[in-house]
Amino acid sequence: MDMVERESWASRAGFILAATGSAIGLGNIWRFPYITAESGGAAFLAVYLLAVIVIGIPAMLVEFTVGRGGKRNVVDVYERIGHGKWKFVGFLGLFTGFWLLSYYSVVGGWVFRYIVGSVTGAYFGDPSAYFGAISTGVDAIAFHLLFMALTVVIVAYGIERGIELATKVMVPAIVLLMIVLAIWASTLPGSAGGYQFYLTPDLNTLTTNFWSILPDAVGQALFSLSLGMGVMITYSSYVARDESLWGDSVSIVFLNTFIGVLAGFVVFPLLFAQNVDPGSPGPGAIFVSMANAFAELPAGQLLGAIFFGVVGIAALSSAISLLEVVVAYFVDNTGYSRPVIAAGAGTAMFLIGVPSAIDTAILGQFDAIAANLLLPLGAFLITLFVGWVYAESAVAELSKGTGEGYNPLDLGWLWHIRTLLLVAVAGTLLVSLLNLLG
Ligand code: TRP
Repeated sequence: MDMVERESWASRAGFILAATGSAIGLGNIWRFPYITAESGGAAFLAVYLLAVIVIGIPAMLVEFTVGRGGKRNVVDVYERIGHGKWKFVGFLGLFTGFWLLSYYSVVGGWVFRYIVGSVTGAYFGDPSAYFGAISTGVDAIAFHLLFMALTVVIVAYGIERGIELATKVMVPAIVLLMIVLAIWASTLPGSAGGYQFYLTPDLNTLTTNFWSILPDAVGQALFSLSLGMGVMITYSSYVARDESLWGDSVSIVFLNTFIGVLAGFVVFPLLFAQNVDPGSPGPGAIFVSMANAFAELPAGQLLGAIFFGVVGIAALSSAISLLEVVVAYFVDNTGYSRPVIAAGAGTAMFLIGVPSAIDTAILGQFDAIAANLLLPLGAFLITLFVGWVYAESAVAELSKGTGEGYNPLDLGWLWHIRTLLLVAVAGTLLVSLLNLLG
């Protein structure tokens, strides 16, 4: 299908916003506060921020050098850059795409349901019973279908008219609304406890739990930055001109971390203001506790609708990146049109997600396997390839667009990913495997 001209982003800002839209999602708002709470609050936050800089930025550059270097989908890109043997890593990425979006869409469906529930005030009487009622069964399946259908429609429109246009509107909206929500949360009586929990690291917690905090922090850094399955390979494959990849990745990582940290500034003060225990685990934690807070607050219906609306937009702009990885492969390799492929893949993912919409325990299993196993495995293999096989070309690709020739930072990056990054990701994988095996 080389005859057809490959699509590309209309602008550099379009690419950065789309990648940021992919990164900012349920991982920042649903997963991050819950994992932070479980892992000791501020102590976890400190390690996570470190992981974002030491692991996140270099790992994103790993994917960018492959994607922009080969300008192909996650599978064929390896052949394109002369290393066809590695295309199994791409197939793992496709598999992870189907796996991850199948349950991500179920959670996205819950969010949509909570927008409706906020407007009608349906969860105000008994937030925890409400979650139980809508999180599984016919309701959950219906909203899972709605969420997946919207994702399909955006991806069907393609790169420039679909994903770029949608995220150009979505990302600024998320940033603005999160700032407003964080300011509002700070005015609530009782919010101080939330800041205390979130921002005052307890050295004791850190030292005693360091070896469990570390892999959680690395896993969360990968998940929240959309790394480890080829989203950033796919998105950077649509970059037409050579600009500084360093600049792009630092912008994306900064924006994503800003929103993640801001989500904590919304969620924790709110929870403490309402005396809700932030540590109650399970995929429903954030829904039940936020609903509890809105049920008590003045104008809770409006505020709830705004909050879940923002989360819904963030979830959608991430979901389209997951679907795009799969769609890009079939667009490059079959004669079917983009809309037909998007609808077909979306239908398959919807069906794979039905068990998760029937039983939240199954959803929890899908999430654990994705975040703790599939993503670290993918990140490990891509880094192994780029660090030790693609190495020289990767450095050459990285140094394009950064002014005259070679930059010592680029070589530093290569040795960093060959050693520290590889060990960190492999260690995370090992610890997760041991945990999963009991
Ligand atoms: N980063 C997104 C979030 O935080 C989720 C996501 C989208 C993702 N694409 C991904 C995670 C690819 C891992 C890999 O919600």
